[in-house]
Amino acid sequence: MAIKGRMRVPEKRLIFFAAIGGAFGSGLAMLVFHHKTRKKKFYITVPLLVLLWSAIIMFLAYQNLHIVTTEYDYMSAELPENLDGYRIVQVSDLHNEFYGAGQHTLLKKIEDADPDVIFVTGDVVDSTFTNYDLAYDFFKGAVDIAPVYYVTGNHEVRLAGERFDRFLSDLESLGVNFLDNKKTETDGYTLIGIADKSLSFPPEELKGNAGDDLVICLAHEPAYGDKYLSMGADIAFCGHIHGGQFILPGKGGVLSPDFEFFPDLYEGRHDFVDSGNAMAMYISRGLGNSIIPQRLNNYPELVVVTLHRLKLYTF
Ligand SMILES: [Fe+2]
Repeated sequence: MAIKGRMRVPEKRLIFFAAIGGAFGSGLAMLVFHHKTRKKKFYITVPLLVLLWSAIIMFLAYQNLHIVTTEYDYMSAELPENLDGYRIVQVSDLHNEFYGAGQHTLLKKIEDADPDVIFVTGDVVDSTFTNYDLAYDFFKGAVDIAPVYYVTGNHEVRLAGERFDRFLSDLESLGVNFLDNKKTETDGYTLIGIADKSLSFPPEELKGNAGDDLVICLAHEPAYGDKYLSMGADIAFCGHIHGGQFILPGKGGVLSPDFEFFPDLYEGRHDFVDSGNAMAMYISRGLGNSIIPQRLNNYPELVVVTLHRLKLYTF
């Protein structure tokens, strides 16, 4: 009922506002205040718009939160025998995404992949919508599944300071191996981690040794693949591109966080070779978003790589 003397809002305008996103408000007004409930135009159109907007919201949430696991097999005749069947899970670009209380949906997916090791390739904490608790929850669960190795991304570089140092010391207390500009031997292979701030000039001392059977490199950005190859890496794990945010069938990822359109390196396995060396680079599409908050046709991704020792037969 209109209040006497007050100007009425035209019905066409009310329907228009409901159509462009105000359907839930209109529906609530009809339920609570019985506003326009007797008008056919409203009691049919508004519930339909509520249903339509509910479907749109669910579709968009599913695009952002439905984690897919991509499995790869890495084959090498030079792989140490103990690594035959070794499973690596890569987590990248979480960007403070929320995957349920204690990050349980993400952690369950990782557990289901049955990893021997978990590599975390940067941008776990988002520098714009910073939330250390969500990142901490992820690490806290991950260390209970398998050993965790972590290198920073460009977002962590921006967070450098006292608060980030405290976060790192909390992670080290959990047992997370912080691998920025460090080299270590683990499970029979050499693992090197390049800090995001050092990608253009990785420290020489990180280079793999000539006699190493397998060298794995963790580095946030895929654009420096030639550098990782020159460090002696046989395998590199990268992220950063978020799958190009939207994937067009037949065209690929649309836009990188650096505003490069249709970047070549946005997901998948890419092979790098130079004289006598070869490297497989695996690029994760990541699990969260930064500048653009929505993914389309580009589900959050866990990368799983199983190592296989190739048996060579001579006849
Ligand atoms: Fe990122």
